[in-house]
Amino acid sequence: MIFKRFKEDIDSLIARDPAARSRWDVIFLYPGFHAVMTYRVTNWLWRHHFRFLGRFLSQMARFFTGIEIHPGAVIGRRFFIDHGDGVVIGETTRIGDNVTLYQAVTLGGIAPSVDSHTQVDQKRHPTLEDGVIVGSGAQVLGAITVGADARIGANAVVTRDVPSGVTAVGIPAHVVMPRDREHAKDFVAYGTPTDGCPDPVLRTIENLHTQVGLLMTRIDNLESELKHAQGRDSDDVQKGCKVVVSRSDT
Ligand SMILES: CC(C)(COP(=O)(O)OP(=O)(O)OC[C@H]1O[C@@H](n2cnc3c(N)ncnc32)[C@H](O)[C@@H]1OP(=O)(O)O)[C@@H](O)C(=O)NCCC(=O)NCCS
Repeated sequence: MIFKRFKEDIDSLIARDPAARSRWDVIFLYPGFHAVMTYRVTNWLWRHHFRFLGRFLSQMARFFTGIEIHPGAVIGRRFFIDHGDGVVIGETTRIGDNVTLYQAVTLGGIAPSVDSHTQVDQKRHPTLEDGVIVGSGAQVLGAITVGADARIGANAVVTRDVPSGVTAVGIPAHVVMPRDREHAKDFVAYGTPTDGCPDPVLRTIENLHTQVGLLMTRIDNLESELKHAQGRDSDDVQKGCKVVVSRSDT
């Protein structure tokens, strides 16, 4: 069982990193792999109440790999940290299956509210659902959820929930392009699709097409909200007239 998982982790890493040529490469050359393997042990220790030992080993792993994963974090299968240096994963983080992080990513907490100081196990760190890719240097902060297959751009700062299958970039992070869910399910190295449509002009047109679709949906929503509001207003006016008429009758 353990070896099957071990092999699964290695193979998923080879599938996701074009630079990984063999299983030996992964075993000897990938600090992200070493950190995740150590995490599997420290998480076991943490769950079995050997908490100091768990944290001690995780700090040792940090010393050697530059990656700090709190043993209390819950991480799914085939998790891949590429390069890794500077990655920090906080205690109450939840990570689904097939998630990829690049270097210098923080899955961090934000200052808890005054009331919550007493609640030690309160969720303070993010949840990353299956298939999420987080670009290098991105900071994902607080008890927010990044939906399945979403992409977070390099150096983004994310402090709000991110819907499934979209790409969020910038500070504060905002959605730039909704992803076709079918397409988003396939892993693309660095989160950047090149195979689907390599022609940059065609990609720009496709992006514009997507943006126009989004705008149309927003306009439809706004129009129906406006109609609704206008309907309410005219109801109010009619009611007002009735009140005035009935008063003038008396
Ligand atoms: C976010 C990301 C996945 C988007 O890739 P994509 O789907 O190909 O998106 P595009 O390149 O078409 O970009 C869409 C828009 O977002 C902008 N954008 C892309 N990445 C951005 C980033 N990190 N920060 C700010 N804006 C970004 C683009 O300029 C473009 O804006 P425009 O429409 O105004 O021109 C990718 O840019 C990224 O950051 N990947 C992480 C790569 C990484 O960390 N590599 C480390 C390897 S060691």
